[in-house]
Amino acid sequence: MVKIEQGDLLITGKAKAVYATSDPEVIWLHHLDQATALNGKKKSKIVGKAYYTNAISSFLFTYLSQHHVPNHFIQQLSDTDSLVKRLEMIKVEIVTRNFAAGSFQRKYDVPQMQPLKPIVQEFYLKNDALDDPSLNASQMIALGLANETEIQAFQQIAQQVNTHLVELFDQIGIDLVDFKIELGYDAQHNLLLADELSPDNMRLVDRQTHQSLDKDVFRQNTGDLTTVYAEILDRLKTI
Ligand code: C5P
Repeated sequence: MVKIEQGDLLITGKAKAVYATSDPEVIWLHHLDQATALNGKKKSKIVGKAYYTNAISSFLFTYLSQHHVPNHFIQQLSDTDSLVKRLEMIKVEIVTRNFAAGSFQRKYDVPQMQPLKPIVQEFYLKNDALDDPSLNASQMIALGLANETEIQAFQQIAQQVNTHLVELFDQIGIDLVDFKIELGYDAQHNLLLADELSPDNMRLVDRQTHQSLDKDVFRQNTGDLTTVYAEILDRLKTI
């Protein structure tokens, strides 16, 4: 592969800075030692976090590539940085839930960790100013965010990711409770899984101890974030 040079800063998000590169079809993700919750209202510097989100995300994207889930990941560059394909991002976030937790548990007042059959899929508009309002299929179509065929493709990719990640975390004694994904189109108009896959955007619960091993420890001040992220990475490395 031709050596790719880091270019201009394109955008700084809540947990990553995104840079252009010498290749117009490739972008450079730099993970940040920063955690946010409540749509950015709670924010802390957490030394070492970037290492874990980058390592875990690289591991999970590589795993999904091996299982033929089309995605943006190209390669990990360093402890905190990775290269991914530059995509035209879809302005919709897709949440998949295997068990009741978080906003679903609060909204419907059901027991925490109640298994959900069938699994639940939800869509949210990516819009911080509006606090990411929820969307159904007709709303997505009427707002011009996606057509019916695309929505089916979103659901299919979310389902595929869920199947593979449930199986993976099952091997290390962890229940994948829920997760959020983002999707985008590459230059050839292939729909690819994008963004990040880490305990920042999924809930992971130890099956034996019922301990949270994800960003809930930061959201709820119940533990040390890097300790639980390190636990996830250590267990993934045993696979
Ligand atoms: O808060 P809620 O229960 O709706 O979140 C469901 C899942 O989606 C959680 O794993 C959460 O970390 C993730 N999520 C996310 N980014 C958002 C909203 C939710 O990663 N903007």
